[in-house]
Amino acid sequence: MNESSSSDDPWRKHRGPGSPRGRDRGPSVAKGPRPQSRGNQRGGQLAHGELPLVATCALGLEEFVEQELRLLGVTRIQRERGAVRFIGDWPMCWRANLWLRTANRVLVELGSWIANDNDTLYWGCFELLDRKGPRAVAGMSARELFDPHKTFAIRASSSRSILSDTRWIGQKIKDAIVDAQRNVFGRRSSVDREQPDRAFRVLLQRDRATLLLDTSREPLDRRGYRMSMVDAPVREQLAAACILASGWNGEGPVLDPMCGSGTLLAEAGLWALGWAPGRLRSEWAFANLPGFDSAAFARMKKHSGPRAAQSASNQPKRIFGGDELPEAIRATSANLERAGIGHMADLVRQDAFDWQPPAEKGLLVINPPYGERLVQQPDLWPRIGDLMKQRFAGWTAVLLAGDLAFAKTVGLKPRRRIAVTHGQLDARIVVFDLY
Ligand SMILES: C[S@@+](CC[C@H](N)C(=O)[O-])C[C@H]1O[C@@H](n2cnc3c(N)ncnc32)[C@H](O)[C@@H]1O
Repeated sequence: MNESSSSDDPWRKHRGPGSPRGRDRGPSVAKGPRPQSRGNQRGGQLAHGELPLVATCALGLEEFVEQELRLLGVTRIQRERGAVRFIGDWPMCWRANLWLRTANRVLVELGSWIANDNDTLYWGCFELLDRKGPRAVAGMSARELFDPHKTFAIRASSSRSILSDTRWIGQKIKDAIVDAQRNVFGRRSSVDREQPDRAFRVLLQRDRATLLLDTSREPLDRRGYRMSMVDAPVREQLAAACILASGWNGEGPVLDPMCGSGTLLAEAGLWALGWAPGRLRSEWAFANLPGFDSAAFARMKKHSGPRAAQSASNQPKRIFGGDELPEAIRATSANLERAGIGHMADLVRQDAFDWQPPAEKGLLVINPPYGERLVQQPDLWPRIGDLMKQRFAGWTAVLLAGDLAFAKTVGLKPRRRIAVTHGQLDARIVVFDLY
């Protein structure tokens, strides 16, 4: 069966005949006979130069990744759990890596096939490489992509599938790649788990395998500005999602009275200025892939991009930060300097409840302590509620709550609540319009 889509929807998945449910057959089956060619490319309706791309993200951040992709000009988008699929070309892939504030990685989908046992898993991958003729995979010839002089690594994951042992799945995919390389080139690649030239991911979902190529290398939260950290820093993507969720249009200053390492302030500043979150990074996996145009990428880095609407007025932006810990102020100061926005910041060591608003309007961002630290201050959330109500009328406030029960004691009705994961925690982004 040819599984390339015949519909207009390039994401349409052709499902094979119903697969028997059962347990992973495990390593006892090495390699069965090669089945009839099934064709394993998805995205059959792609025009020349178009790629099926996937931006992965933490659960709950999908809507922000989609919003960011639309701002970058992407139109064909499909949201999934923990990922957003989209269609773009290689320059869009570089742009997404450079600009996405809320995604973890950008991957290219290389192929997808039914894999309900060891043989189908193995042969589906083998066929991707062992193509007759010059057929390209994601705009690269299979020969370039699986060049045996390049090292590679595989990471596997599985959900709701008969094959569930991810080590075994990764091993099978590795076998398929190196066997097909021997077949085509007469030699195979070495595996390098630390610094591979090609980082592949295989994802099994409901007995469908998808092989993906990582184009990011380090996850996109490694912006390069946060070298100093104090307790419980929030991940950069989640901090950026808080800023986007607030709907802040860039008017007025941003203030974080419990700034910790300053992540929320840094992400607000970068968004207000329209600076790429990846501007300080120098290493990208896509730079090692065939067709990378370093001059075009350098030009792309010079342009400003999507930003808070009012910020285009080029009014000087102000950032205010405070914390009760002197080490937090030092860390925030160093991080904002590295991000290139230290000149916009006023930082003071002071109690959060001593702040007076520095302007009539602005964005108040707070990620209060949670867990044990919060137990020591049980009235913290009602006090935050009072601070917002009594002093910050006219402002927008966004709170990242790591402790849901406490968040309810704030005593104000939020405009939005968004369920997100914060490390292992079930957290909420809560947005308030303060009158
Ligand atoms: C969860 S951390 C914030 C982490 C920060 N969002 C980041 O990304 O690094 C909470 C911070 O609130 C500070 N804090 C707690 N109570 C405070 C208070 N009453 N006044 C000022 N800072 C306070 C703590 O010192 C800590 O740095």
